[in-house]
Order: sequence, then structure tokens, then C-alpha cells
Amino acid sequence: MADLHIINHPLVQHKISLLRDKNTGTKEFRELVSEIAMFICYEATRDLPLKEIEIETPVAVAKTKVISGRKLAFVPILRAGLGMIDGVTALVPAAKIGHIGIFREPDTKEAVKYYSKMPDDIAERDVIIVDPMLATGHSAVAAIDEMKKLGVKNIKFMCIICSPEGVEKLRVTHPDVDVYTGVMDKGLNEDKYIVPGVGDAGDRIFGTK
Ligand code: URA
Repeated sequence: MADLHIINHPLVQHKISLLRDKNTGTKEFRELVSEIAMFICYEATRDLPLKEIEIETPVAVAKTKVISGRKLAFVPILRAGLGMIDGVTALVPAAKIGHIGIFREPDTKEAVKYYSKMPDDIAERDVIIVDPMLATGHSAVAAIDEMKKLGVKNIKFMCIICSPEGVEKLRVTHPDVDVYTGVMDKGLNEDKYIVPGVGDAGDRIFGTK
């Protein structure tokens, strides 16, 4: 069963409160999404393997650690996931970025993939999929399906707010994928928005409403 990691750090919780406010404008919303993504990414990368190396300091030779092993790729789900990329690449600048486009079919709310462009070596990388809102879980499942089809072995899913329904959907369909989130909200409304949530994260990041 996939683990759910809720990042209860006070800075994350404070910034999520600012994000929720309907009076928070586009500029601040975008900055907050990026900052929160950075904090959650800090936890999502906690298990990166290290190897010991020797470095000469001005004083002596130090046995010290650097990240080693498989390389990382971030995959934002278009379009709201793009808002998290600045924050996560601030922590892991060498990571490559793949893009996956998925939209919710308005009537059925089913996920429809319309775009996928990945680094050539994606199968050799560990992948963290990012999307600020894990609502029904349909988009997350479609993105994970695509990664597995491409041969990716180690996948994590990072969001800012999740619903119990979305987490349950991931547990059932992809029990090997851990979820990292800032908070779990009450549930979904009839339009499949997270309640209380933040509204449409994509619109609020890009100012399209
Ligand atoms: N996508 C959003 O942007 N907001 C929600 O509440 C659910 C899905």
C-alpha cells in the first residue's frame, strides 16, 4: 500500500492558508505554489541515496557525502503542475523535466491524455509527478500509467492539497506510488473540486479567470 506523507511543517501550513484565500492574487498565488512545492520536494527527496567522497577543504581532507545513484525527473501535469516546477528545480537543478498534458472530460470527468514529451532516458530515472491538486485521482492515475508504460520503475506523486477520494484511487490502482502532500481536505463537491480547496489551481496560477 502506498504511503501518504502529509508535510505538517508550520511554513507549509501557513502558506497553504494564504493560498486558500480567494483574495490572494495571481502573483502571490504563483509564488506560494512554488514555495510550497519546494518544501514538499525537500521531504519527497529525503530518501535519495548518498555516497561518500573525499574533498579537500582549506584545512584537511573531509570524508563527505554527495547524492549518487539514479537521476531524477520531474513530470508536471499540465497545466497547473507547471506552477510547481520553479520550486522543485530550485532544490534539484540537474533534474530533467517531462511534460504530460491531461484534461478532465467535462461530462464524465475522466482523464484524457493529449500530450506527452519525456526525456529520452526517462526509463532510467526516478520520477516525481507534480500537480497541485489531487482531486478524483483520474489525472494522477493516467500520468502514472504513462510513466509505467515508458518503463519508469520508481514513481512518487507530489501535490499541495489532496482529497481522500484521490488518495484512495491511487492506493487501489498504484499501490507502489507514495503520495506527498501539504494537506488532505474534506472531499470533492459535485463538480469534482476539492472542498474547501483553493478553486481552480490552473486558473489561479495563470490568471485565466
Ligand atoms: N483541480 C483544481 O484546480 N482544483 C480542484 O479543486 C480540483 C482539481
